[in-house]
Amino acid sequence: MKKEFKNCPACFEGKELYGFDWKEHVVAIPSPLVVVTSYKANGKTNATLQSWLTFSNSDGFYCIFADVSKYGHMYQSIKEQKSLVINFPSADIYPKCYSTIANNQYDDAEIEMAGLTAEEASTVHAPRIKECFLNLECEYVWEKELTPDSYHIVMCVKVINVVMDEEYYNEQKKGRYGNTGYLYNIHSPANPETGKEEDTYLGILKKIKRYREL
Ligand SMILES: Cc1cc2nc3c(=O)[nH]c(=O)nc-3n(C[C@H](O)[C@H](O)[C@H](O)COP(=O)(O)O)c2cc1C
Repeated sequence: MKKEFKNCPACFEGKELYGFDWKEHVVAIPSPLVVVTSYKANGKTNATLQSWLTFSNSDGFYCIFADVSKYGHMYQSIKEQKSLVINFPSADIYPKCYSTIANNQYDDAEIEMAGLTAEEASTVHAPRIKECFLNLECEYVWEKELTPDSYHIVMCVKVINVVMDEEYYNEQKKGRYGNTGYLYNIHSPANPETGKEEDTYLGILKKIKRYREL
């Protein structure tokens, strides 16, 4: 039976949701996990995990970040440099990518401190993560506040160059999906009747049926 949830269920009231809306936990829609890299003003590498993002294809290939904090190094360095790389890690290197959250001081070289390799992008002034199977070299295009005075913004960047491991774009080899492919953030799904929250999980994608077999 389907149930409707328009107002915040009582079980969520007073619960620490770390700035997230209760609806986020009820729907818990998985979103792709990436590491955005750029240079800070001191030349050190910045690495920021992002997962609220999508892509637009009609008039070129663009990434729309839905929820970028205005007070983080990612926002600051992209505004200064106008360049960034979107790196796609596979599960084996995700713990290293996650460690960038702990090594997040202005003077930290965040890619190197995570035990990953920084290499200069070919087309924009930003570092890319060598161990990631896909790097999208991008230029900043525009931003907009989601709501007036919000401390998060929606940011649009244009993909200028695609750098991809051949084993991943060949679906007969590793391919893009399954255990070694794209990662998804499954952000603590919660039961709106009991308030019970599950752990946050790292997800992968499994192909189930060809479109021509539907
Ligand atoms: C799985 C995951 C997804 C995240 N997604 C976002 C996001 O979409 N937007 C955001 O502003 N922060 C996001 N964060 C938080 C930032 O990665 C974190 O605050 C980071 O330390 C900010 O780094 P910076 O100061 O270098 O920008 C996410 C964190 C995790 C663990």
